[in-house]
Amino acid sequence: MSHTKIRKCLFPAAGYGTRFLPATKAIPKEMLPVLTKPLLQYGVEEAISAGLDTMAIVTGRGKRAIEDHFDISYELEHQIKGTSKEHYLTEIRAVITKCTFSYTRQVEMKGLGHAILSGQTLIGDEPFAVILADDLCDNDEGPTVLNQMVKLYEKHRCSIVAIEEVPIEETHKYGVIKAHEIEKNLFEIEDMVEKPDPKDAPSNLAIIGRYILTPDIFEILEQTLPGKNGEIQITDALRTQAQKGKVLGFKFAGRRFDCGSVDGFVEATNYFYAK
Ligand code: G1P
Repeated sequence: MSHTKIRKCLFPAAGYGTRFLPATKAIPKEMLPVLTKPLLQYGVEEAISAGLDTMAIVTGRGKRAIEDHFDISYELEHQIKGTSKEHYLTEIRAVITKCTFSYTRQVEMKGLGHAILSGQTLIGDEPFAVILADDLCDNDEGPTVLNQMVKLYEKHRCSIVAIEEVPIEETHKYGVIKAHEIEKNLFEIEDMVEKPDPKDAPSNLAIIGRYILTPDIFEILEQTLPGKNGEIQITDALRTQAQKGKVLGFKFAGRRFDCGSVDGFVEATNYFYAK
């Protein structure tokens, strides 16, 4: 059955978090907190804000803390119930009651495209969202980034990637699009390339970690050969999808912090602390 409404959000969360060693030796990088809340919980809350209620998490070895986080801790509930500290649990309790969580493991690390393909078993044949939790997004002035994208999907019914202008010397960190603007902040993608050298970059419009994908992406991913760094890239699969049909790039309203880097992480921490 094909659902038109987006219900599910996929979270690739199998990476090693090498840039945060030694912190990530025994703790999944998605569990690192900005203030008191783990990165992944920010992502799940953003998905809930967009009306999604089914969280599909692609994990790997050493990531069991994620499952424990999105579950009741009876011992903690028992200890804290009726005390002045109970309010510390309010936010995570709300998350747990508003959605369900399912998990699968990416057995081999073969890239973001491969991680998304590993999640097919949890998604099935319907359009879905993808959040990369280390891109932490916030919009002070209105709906969250994923909420903006889900609304756009309802109008356009095709895959959509979030984009942001970056300094040209940073294109080697991102998927970069070649596109033309069809309405304010909305671009139709002609081509895209994973982590190009600045001299080869088709623009300075970089993809950031929010996607809406139509389910035909799975078939395309199965056919996609390893690309940049020998990994199966979602950017390459989306390029094929754009050439066969339509893929949009959306310059969202809000801010994004690259919490996959120490600098971005500190910036996010300061931003949320000031808030
Ligand atoms: C991934 C994608 C890249 C995208 C980026 C956004 O790269 O492969 O296209 O621009 O996420 O954060 P990663 O940061 O996982 O290397």
